Amino acid sequence: MTNQINVKLVDSSYSINIGDKSLKKLIDKINSSRISKCLIVIDSNVNKHHSLLIRKTFALLECKVLQYIFIATEKNKSLNQIEKIYNILSYNYFGRDSAIVAIGGGVTGDVAGFAASTYMRGIKYFQVPTTLLAMVDSSVGGKTGVNFNNKKNLIGSFYQPDGVFVYTDFLKTLPYKELISGAGEVFKYSFLAGHNNYLLLNNNLKKLFEGKEIDYNKVILSCLKIKSNIVVQDEKETTGLRKVLNLGHTFAHAFEVESNYKLKHGEAVIAGIYCALVLSEISGYLSKEKWELFFGNFSYIPISKTVLKFDQDRIIQFMFGDKKNTKGNISFVLIEEIGSIVVDVVVEKASILIAIKTLSEFVKDQKRFKRGKLSSFEGET
Ligand SMILES: NC(=O)c1ccc[n+]([C@@H]2O[C@H](COP(=O)([O-])OP(=O)(O)OC[C@H]3O[C@@H](n4cnc5c(N)ncnc54)[C@H](O)[C@@H]3O)[C@@H](O)[C@H]2O)c1
Repeated sequence: MTNQINVKLVDSSYSINIGDKSLKKLIDKINSSRISKCLIVIDSNVNKHHSLLIRKTFALLECKVLQYIFIATEKNKSLNQIEKIYNILSYNYFGRDSAIVAIGGGVTGDVAGFAASTYMRGIKYFQVPTTLLAMVDSSVGGKTGVNFNNKKNLIGSFYQPDGVFVYTDFLKTLPYKELISGAGEVFKYSFLAGHNNYLLLNNNLKKLFEGKEIDYNKVILSCLKIKSNIVVQDEKETTGLRKVLNLGHTFAHAFEVESNYKLKHGEAVIAGIYCALVLSEISGYLSKEKWELFFGNFSYIPISKTVLKFDQDRIIQFMFGDKKNTKGNISFVLIEEIGSIVVDVVVEKASILIAIKTLSEFVKDQKRFKRGKLSSFEGET
């Protein structure tokens, strides 16, 4: 069975296809789109594990097909890689009627999408996400880009794909660490809609961390419904609505850079959401009871011990460099209640430091902490 979500935007519309037949749908879509040439940007690990499936699938394309095997690392999320893709496109006379297909995780999708958005002022591109993170989040919404000067996603564009095709069998070869990273974004989505969504995602996350089978199609469908619904209302992050998707991300981006990318994006998001919960409580948006409930409910989610090595002042510096900031302030996305998120909250540096310190305490002794260690920080400024 394949589920479909239609993303209807002002200038363009596309469908997200989730399920067994999604790769066939991708081929049908390209073959019916009068595309002359196609560059498939394939994550090297995906190619290693799934080359037969990929070859068989793309043999059905009627246009000329080239491939670029891409090593997906944050270091390679760079203008240097974009130039390499431009070179392939230009040497092979790719015109405006050509397309790029990104097969990989968020790094591959962001890089390939940015190349597609800028080559000849924009050619078509399709997303085939292969990590959980990309399936639940990054493949949808049209944010593309690369890192620059040690700043995450500093150069980029809003450029919507012409279709997203989610085939969950790719996850069978995804390393556990990467699965956990994807769980970070699922964790985020659990706060962004109503109670049923919270329960569905929380139950599945728990099973995932217990090493049990989960219904990926259901989880992905739930997350992408939330994301696409937000994106259609605020495609380019101008009304503020889309900012809710950045829950935990002001912390997360700084944590990623501070860890020199040892911390995966989703792992950083998990840590970032815990900090956002603390900030929400300190800033008076979230009651202490709710704060403890959330920390307790999700106490099965491990947080990387890397956070214990963080230099707090450097983290604050990285946060000042975050492109989401305005007027020299660091602003945050905070939580009032499940499904009720506040954006653009400016907080004191002292509160940010308390949030990071609380996270460290939590990581040191996650089990004991949930029995109420918050009080040890009360009164600090
Ligand atoms: N554009 C957006 O809206 C958006 C949203 C969230 C995150 N992001 C970006 O996404 C990136 C993180 O993406 P990610 O977590 O998917 O990481 P990733 O793309 O780096 O992939 C993680 C690792 O998994 C490997 N891999 C991918 N698929 C595999 C498979 N099926 N089997 C085996 N190995 C596989 C890759 O080779 C890589 O080593 C970050 O750069 C982040 O900034 C973008």
